[in-house]
Amino acid sequence: MNETLDKEYNFEKKIKTDNDIQLNLFQSANNATIRPIHYLGSKLRLLKTISEVIDEVDDTSGVVCDLFSGSGTVAKYLSAYRPVISVDIQEYSRVLCSALLNPNESKYSVSEFVEMCKNSNHSKLLKKCFIKLEQYEEKCIKEGACGNLEPICDLLDNGSIITYEKGYREDISYQLSNTIEECIKNICELKLNDRAQVLVTRYFGGLYFSYKQAVEIDCILEQVFNLEPKYRDTYLAALLSTASDVVNTVGKQFAQPIKARNSDGSPKKNILKRLQKDRIIDVFECYEKWLNIYLSQEKSNKNHKIIKGDYADVLETLDDTVKVVYADPPYTRYHYSRYYHVLETICLRDNPEVSMNKAHGISRVSRGVYRKQRHQSPFSIKSESYNAFDVMFQKVSRINATLILSYSPFDETKESTPRVLTISQIEEIAKKYYTSVEIVSVGEFSHSKLNHNDKNFEINYNAEILIVCKNAINGGENNEKHNRKI
Ligand SMILES: C[S@@+](CC[C@H](N)C(=O)[O-])C[C@H]1O[C@@H](n2cnc3c(N)ncnc32)[C@H](O)[C@@H]1O
Repeated sequence: MNETLDKEYNFEKKIKTDNDIQLNLFQSANNATIRPIHYLGSKLRLLKTISEVIDEVDDTSGVVCDLFSGSGTVAKYLSAYRPVISVDIQEYSRVLCSALLNPNESKYSVSEFVEMCKNSNHSKLLKKCFIKLEQYEEKCIKEGACGNLEPICDLLDNGSIITYEKGYREDISYQLSNTIEECIKNICELKLNDRAQVLVTRYFGGLYFSYKQAVEIDCILEQVFNLEPKYRDTYLAALLSTASDVVNTVGKQFAQPIKARNSDGSPKKNILKRLQKDRIIDVFECYEKWLNIYLSQEKSNKNHKIIKGDYADVLETLDDTVKVVYADPPYTRYHYSRYYHVLETICLRDNPEVSMNKAHGISRVSRGVYRKQRHQSPFSIKSESYNAFDVMFQKVSRINATLILSYSPFDETKESTPRVLTISQIEEIAKKYYTSVEIVSVGEFSHSKLNHNDKNFEINYNAEILIVCKNAINGGENNEKHNRKI
């Protein structure tokens, strides 16, 4: 990486919004570092090291493929000085990478677009439709502030409209039930039931967002989908970043709506504070900030490609113009699709079937209101992960590219760590396809260069690790045959 970029990387800018939302955005002068969403296992802190290792194995600034691009931070950083191919199975990742790597011309000025979202007919209809729920939530908060936390706990437990529609009404209060019924009647009268136009409010309002926030997200989403497809990704990415900032969960993921009660059923003491921290964030204001950020990115003159697809299928389509493949697959049995299902649904806008859970003989919509058809990654399934890695090494070696694999902290002695494969298992697979397999612990990289044979540092297996695989066996030619034996 060149020196200027290096210096610019250190220019860290933390942007705070007026109402003190932390956008958690670190922007370098050339926009190479952006944190578009709060993301588990984000490689934000390792960007410089990853790019140094890539430069070390390929000094031609050749094409790099970010095979599991997730939030897009790695792809974005690398795109400043190399052509990048970003790959991920999820639509939200494609949208983010598209907006980050190939930012498009703005169709409207930021304020113009936000005004359109606020004042559209659709926006007026939705406001009217859900006003009773908005007001009811405000009332619950007021009662909570006066010491009665029951109504707000009830809302958090039972406030999801889709859960109500699917027939789960076990412990819901009469007041909440009536208010939801009234809103459902409004939706039906407007013939919006089962329509994408009310999706976020129906699925996630009251649960991950306040009703007001959910309605505003729906208003923006409608306007985004009215745009021509070529403009859409940038405006949609800004909405994903907004949803990630305003979501009311611990850690800003979407796997678990916050729990209102202690195990004995009593309301959690700090529930109101916990709730208001996120639910007072103004969606339009937050969206405006993000849209500004996306639209003010510098255009890249490199030819970047963004592909939504399964890693194995996409690798089949790549050729030896790709010099380096950077891979950061999932390593635990927890599926990423569960943590980010809300973002996926916002992008697909497809009114998905929701998964059901059975407890005490009663079947009800899963508490997190997950999509039924969520992607189940073979990397996260114990019985499939070995083969998933094998296929990856084989297919990358076939195009004779260097493979740089990220591996997160892991202590093999701790049985509870839910990593699906150990480092030694991964090394074993790598050596089937590559003559040179080196493990670099990220902290030590700055003191040692990959080409040195006399590395005298100890690998720290509890730190983030990069497994660098160079020199495909017989230039990758034999690996087609090898694969048939898998
Ligand atoms: C650890 S995350 C990548 C994080 C990324 N490096 C970042 O910094 O944001 C793993 C990613 O792999 C993707 N993934 C899982 N299985 C996949 C598959 N079969 N094909 C393509 N992508 C997959 C997930 O959707 C997820 O985004």
